[in-house]
Amino acid sequence: EKDLRLSSILIRWYNDNKRELPWRDTTDPYFIWISEIILQQTRVDQGYTYFNRFVKRFPSVGLLAQAEEDEVLKLWQGLGYYSRARNLHAAAKMILEKYNGAFPRDYEGVLSLRGVGGYTAAAIVSFAYNQPYAVVDGNVFRVLSRIFAIEEPIDSTKGKKLFSQLAQELLDDKRPGLHNQAIMEFGALQCVPASPHCGDCPASVMCLAYAQGRVGVFPVKEGK
Ligand code: ADE
Repeated sequence: EKDLRLSSILIRWYNDNKRELPWRDTTDPYFIWISEIILQQTRVDQGYTYFNRFVKRFPSVGLLAQAEEDEVLKLWQGLGYYSRARNLHAAAKMILEKYNGAFPRDYEGVLSLRGVGGYTAAAIVSFAYNQPYAVVDGNVFRVLSRIFAIEEPIDSTKGKKLFSQLAQELLDDKRPGLHNQAIMEFGALQCVPASPHCGDCPASVMCLAYAQGRVGVFPVKEGK
């Protein structure tokens, strides 16, 4: 019997369609942290090269902590948003001093690191430790707003709360890391912003926006 939950559909799609990316072959929270900070403001194809260079030069949080800030910034050159690199360095020092070099193992500890917000903390603890925290990024907003035809703007206070709750309810508690990767990749490759690939989408059977012929309406934004 086929499992028809959204999560199962997304995970099946992910297993068939995912890109092979270096930070996906690891459960090391340090590597996942570096990748997520890079990908906050950088596209995957550009981030890929920077990620590989960065972890080659600084293969552990301890080695990053001991580096000179200038060298960290030099590795970041071309990526922009240099506060990301400064925050990485400062957080690595804190991990070395406060946690003896061991990456924090709980959501609150990860969230307390410089430059780490709710999205990044959820990504790290779900990918590295398989802890049940749903990620909510632009991809997740788009996918959920379409499937459930959510009229609430994604940039309103009410909307943000609603989407976070929905994402958490839909999370597959047995495989949260895989679920989170799957929904983000699905948003990045299938349920794309312009001209989403509804014709061969495995979730179209349950997609309210698709049923209504209103895929282009979602996600709704307050500012327009
Ligand atoms: N964007 C943000 N995090 C990502 C990830 N883990 N894989 C691909 N794209 C991403």
